Amino acid sequence: MSSSAAPPSNDPTIPSDLKSRIASSYDAIATTYNAFTIQHNPIRTHYLSLLLSHLNLPERTTDATTSNVRIDMLELGCGAGNLSIPYLLSASPSIHILGNDISSAQISLARTNIPQHENSRVSFIHGDMTTLSLTPSTYTAVIALYSIMHLPRAEQSIQLQKATTWLTPGGYLLANFGAGEMEGGVNERWLGEENGWMFWSGWGVEGTKKMVEDAGLEILVDEVKLEKEDEVDKERSVEFFWVLARKPISGE
Ligand SMILES: C[S@@+](CC[C@H](N)C(=O)[O-])C[C@H]1O[C@@H](n2cnc3c(N)ncnc32)[C@H](O)[C@@H]1O
Repeated sequence: MSSSAAPPSNDPTIPSDLKSRIASSYDAIATTYNAFTIQHNPIRTHYLSLLLSHLNLPERTTDATTSNVRIDMLELGCGAGNLSIPYLLSASPSIHILGNDISSAQISLARTNIPQHENSRVSFIHGDMTTLSLTPSTYTAVIALYSIMHLPRAEQSIQLQKATTWLTPGGYLLANFGAGEMEGGVNERWLGEENGWMFWSGWGVEGTKKMVEDAGLEILVDEVKLEKEDEVDKERSVEFFWVLARKPISGE
């Protein structure tokens, strides 16, 4: 939900070609967005490390038994994956990642950002996250950084319900959302880019907590963080709502 000089207008009209417009915009502005968002890497690292601290990761080892342990993670809207994917892969040889993104440009960049010797532990699905059909109870973590907020908020609720089914019992969701309540906000020239039309939506802090809990997840950490947002207007900041939540094990 980052910004440009002007904040997004709160326009509840959701265009029928929303998804293809978002995909085309990210195709057009991928390089600009990825350079712009490097400033947010410390906060990504903070929350990814918090997620990892909750996992019982096998030690780095050459022991065949331990290296057979497999921990699957799903990243929705992984973008160019320039921080999250290498960061998670380096945490444990047991981690395997499925990255998804609607932008073909972002997916192409993500492929090039994976260290070649790690190729076998990463795969990608290009497309709208709302159309994914994945095996239930497969992923130890579902991660969505600055991505679910691009879905109309009614779709966000459905997406979280699906994410919950994809999680293993005891698995974790790490996601951030816009902190403000907004049915539909549009920025015609995000990041000052001529082809940077962009859309965000959100339920606000209390509504997002309810959405996460209604999906069947137990919230472990929920925090609003102010982030310096803009290269165009350096004074502008935006609040994001970060959530780490866990799928209960039945009987808990
Ligand atoms: C703000 S970027 C965040 C990228 C990355 N997660 C990061 O932290 O830098 C949002 C990403 O979500 C992707 N995205 C937007 N809507 C999507 C959808 N419906 N399905 C899958 N990916 C989507 C965009 O293409 C873009 O790469």
